[in-house]
Amino acid sequence: MTLQTIQTTQLDIPPGMIHLGIGQPDPSLLPLALMKNAAAHRLGHDDGSLLAYGAESGDGYFRLALSRFLTEHYHKPVDPDDLFVTAGASQGLDLICTLFTKPGDTIFVEEPSYFLALDIFRDHGLNIVGLPMDENGLMVEALEEGLTQHHPAFLYCIPTFHNPSSITLSAVRREQLVQLSQAHNLLIVADEVYHLLPYDSPPPQPLANYIDTGTILSMGSFSKILAPGLRLGWIQANQALLQRLVRSGLLQSGGGLSPFTSKLVQSALELGLQRDHLVKLKTVYGQRKDFLSAALRRHLGSFVAFSEPRGGFFIWLRLPEQIDAEALQPEARQHNVGFQPGIRFSSHQRLKNYIRVCFSFYDTPELETAVGRLADVLKNHRQSG
Ligand SMILES: Cc1ncc(COP(=O)(O)O)c(C=O)c1O
Repeated sequence: MTLQTIQTTQLDIPPGMIHLGIGQPDPSLLPLALMKNAAAHRLGHDDGSLLAYGAESGDGYFRLALSRFLTEHYHKPVDPDDLFVTAGASQGLDLICTLFTKPGDTIFVEEPSYFLALDIFRDHGLNIVGLPMDENGLMVEALEEGLTQHHPAFLYCIPTFHNPSSITLSAVRREQLVQLSQAHNLLIVADEVYHLLPYDSPPPQPLANYIDTGTILSMGSFSKILAPGLRLGWIQANQALLQRLVRSGLLQSGGGLSPFTSKLVQSALELGLQRDHLVKLKTVYGQRKDFLSAALRRHLGSFVAFSEPRGGFFIWLRLPEQIDAEALQPEARQHNVGFQPGIRFSSHQRLKNYIRVCFSFYDTPELETAVGRLADVLKNHRQSG
């Protein structure tokens, strides 16, 4: 390591490049002043217990504050006892895989699905089966059919403002999915990290609202609504499922996850700072979503197809059938623009003619420049092809 190569954040973007593939909050929107206030408030209590091993489910006062916050957004009372604190959705998912699967087990995912969740499943040696989606989300009929052939350890789905497709599972499908999970005792791992980020109308109720079935683990995260460096999230589920998490070796040995951070975020919740920040994020991201959609239509209208997102971080672009988006990457790099090729989101090496672009990371001038560059890349490709 040299001083020039020392890295603090995960990102390492070449100078001049605008990488629309990055699916993270804009660094300039990370709330440093908010966290300073929250930390001053919490540390001002002079209570050293936040430096001890934490309660296995997570600090009770933090879970109480979180339950009140979620109750406002989920329009249904959230019981703090149904919440388990994680070090983010990725960590929660990894723990679920550890406890609810063994290598060689089959799991169901949506096709497409969040590419880095697929990596977590591969880490656990799982056999991944993708199920089709349409404009109303996961096709529940295909799931039912899949259950006649496989006995999956669970279904992993992203019901609201899906990554990468931004599709939201309709209210009717949610009911059907829940009924099916009960009828077949199918465990559903619902990754609901974008549920709190609608920009138009509110989405249907989260799968978290159905945990009484005993078949649902709903994951949430502060990564998208506050800051990913906090490594803080939660799982909402019924007691039987939560007890399996609490009794795990990881929790017994290390105590509850992210105890110090959760106490700072407790202050952010109690002081209303999280609520205000979320309002700001929805305004800014909503404007960027409108802007990027308009820019894509203007520069690439006849060339790409997409449905405009209603929340979340992403736009999922369908290119003409014969285009392999991965093959465009070298040309894109030359034009200083990046994106995620669709194949990364496929459990079956398909979706080659799709790309995912993100509107949360960059402000509108960069989005405009990036779409112009993307249009050049695609036009050059069309001419040379
Ligand atoms: C669907 C989905 N799940 C989980 C994550 C990661 O969440 P966390 O930072 O809480 O681990 C992301 C981040 O991109 C995501 O899009």
